[in-house]
Amino acid sequence: MLLGGCAGVQSTFSTFGTEAEALRALGGGMFAAAALITLGVLALAWHAVRTDEGLDFHGGLRIVLWLGAIVPTLLLTALLVVSLPRMEPLSAAEDGVEIAVDGEQFWWRVSYRSGAGAGVETANEIRIPAGRAVTFELESPDVIHSFWIPGLAGKLDMIPGRTNVLTVLATRVGSFRGACAEFCGLSHANMAFDVIALEPDDFDRWLARLARPAAAVTGDGRRLFDEYGCPACHVVRGHHPGTPIGPDLTHFGSRVSFAAGTLPLEIGAVSAFLRDPAARKPGVRMPSFVDMPERDANAIAAYLLELR
Ligand code: CUA
Repeated sequence: MLLGGCAGVQSTFSTFGTEAEALRALGGGMFAAAALITLGVLALAWHAVRTDEGLDFHGGLRIVLWLGAIVPTLLLTALLVVSLPRMEPLSAAEDGVEIAVDGEQFWWRVSYRSGAGAGVETANEIRIPAGRAVTFELESPDVIHSFWIPGLAGKLDMIPGRTNVLTVLATRVGSFRGACAEFCGLSHANMAFDVIALEPDDFDRWLARLARPAAAVTGDGRRLFDEYGCPACHVVRGHHPGTPIGPDLTHFGSRVSFAAGTLPLEIGAVSAFLRDPAARKPGVRMPSFVDMPERDANAIAAYLLELR
């Protein structure tokens, strides 16, 4: 009952994927078995101190044989039999979705590889269809991260120089969160992402929208974005060809949060981050613009939020 309090958007207790559900069932079973064994041992200990014929005790060897060898062997064999089939990875499906995720310092580069959104990139937000197999291709250009969506599946490392593949199946729609589970640098703890499971039709519509170039905007922000050199690291498809060093910002305003799941998508937060990103995210690669007048920062932030 107490563990129920741990359920939330980022929890192995609020599952929305087949793998996480199997893990939760296995974990629950192991916990129950461990609790039974502990209670049994406590009962034996209680019995031992209550009876005073201890000195006369015979049959110790039998107890050691049973509790020390036979029962553990049976238990471990049963666990092996139960868990082996669950270690078989899901296989990618014909109509499945392929998403490449790169662990960067300290954010997530998300590239859709199939369907209407093939080749389209976004950051720090992964949308998947429920009921359709999704294959993540996990990579990293420099340091090791670990990709973890607790409610969906187990962790898998992102290792420079190799591609790790994780196939998952979401069982229900909803908004969840993932996080980096391997210390990767100063902002390891500021490296989360939003995970949104949608109905397959909603997902297809969303992906088609993501593939579209940036929306028309008003105000000075678009020009200032260029003048401050932001396209040197950021792409806004349709507005700024840019260089894809940092996150693609084409649909920044339609995300759930920003700065790798750590800040709300509000003009004040975006503006403050633009001027001094390291204050919110130590070790960030983005340079500071502390000399940028607040008016300019607000205009750029307003521009970014218009990119829906
Ligand atoms: Cu990336 Cu820890």
